[in-house]
Amino acid sequence: MSENQKNRILSTSEIEEDIEFDADNPLRPQVLSEYIGQDKVKENLKVFIEAAKLRKESLDHVLLYGPPGLGKTTLSMIIAKELGVNIRITSGPAIEKPGDLAALLTNLAPGDVLFIDEIHRLPRSVEEILYPAMEDFVIDIVTGKGQMATSYHLPLQKFTLVGATTRAGQLSAPLRDRFGVVLRLELYTPEQLAQIVRRSATILGIKIDKDGALEIASRSRGTPRIANRLLKRVRDFAQIINNGEINYTIAKDALDKLEIDELGLDSNDRRLLKTMIEFYNGGPVGLETIAAAIGEEAITIEDVYEPFLMQIGFLSRTPRGRCVTKSAYLHMGYKTEKFNKNEQCSFLE
Ligand code: ADE
Repeated sequence: MSENQKNRILSTSEIEEDIEFDADNPLRPQVLSEYIGQDKVKENLKVFIEAAKLRKESLDHVLLYGPPGLGKTTLSMIIAKELGVNIRITSGPAIEKPGDLAALLTNLAPGDVLFIDEIHRLPRSVEEILYPAMEDFVIDIVTGKGQMATSYHLPLQKFTLVGATTRAGQLSAPLRDRFGVVLRLELYTPEQLAQIVRRSATILGIKIDKDGALEIASRSRGTPRIANRLLKRVRDFAQIINNGEINYTIAKDALDKLEIDELGLDSNDRRLLKTMIEFYNGGPVGLETIAAAIGEEAITIEDVYEPFLMQIGFLSRTPRGRCVTKSAYLHMGYKTEKFNKNEQCSFLE
């Protein structure tokens, strides 16, 4: 991740401020009924959890996918809590060797949840041990080399693997196929985010009215992690100018000062669109070219910037590359005559 991305207030990556709260983050809903939004996911999960409990079996392995910051870790904790089991939390890059995974798996109690964030980043050698573990609850592991090599065949307790990834397409097919439940998380609507902001404000003891919450929500690009972070930043402004109380005007002024516009675009989004419009005539332009032009990693552009820009209809992915749409031209204050001259993208009226 670039420095720019780390410091970005709209970053969907967990930053220190979020992690500080993490061990017992009071903002995380604990049970499904407290979790706002993602109705389809909740409905399905509820059925699968109830059914597994009735049968006194472990829940089938669950894959959660969708843009960062939407609550995948939170949901996995809720799954464990609703099942009445313990959860172990780790991530793909943290499991370096087969032995690391074997240690995690052999320490699970019956029915426990193992949560692997960024599961697409598991090393190949680790992924291969995961297949029999998921399918038959055994691990086959070889230690030592040559004549000293010893192979172990260890039975495991039945467990539930909850994997999270930004895109299911990044997973290898054999791994993806071993998940019985595959759930896609969607960006939240401003109304759902406003509900989350008001809930968080109550927990943090912040006074906020409906319009203040909606203003923060509307600029949070569909992402609770951003909404909660903006709430804390706006509270700072409110403390200095309004005894800590947040209303529409305070929220609007604070967010303007933070350079987050009415749609939730920050200076990085605007720079991306501006570069595409001014240097590449609005596209079509390849992902790698954009990445080089703005000094970001291609994967960051794909996972962090694009989902939201596509959701609001500012960007489209075409077989020939990325295109900026007419509404983005208008939002960015460019004349659309220029856009209409760009024949390859102008079908995106
Ligand atoms: N905090 C973060 N995400 C949340 C959600 N989906 N529901 C309630 N509170 C949240």
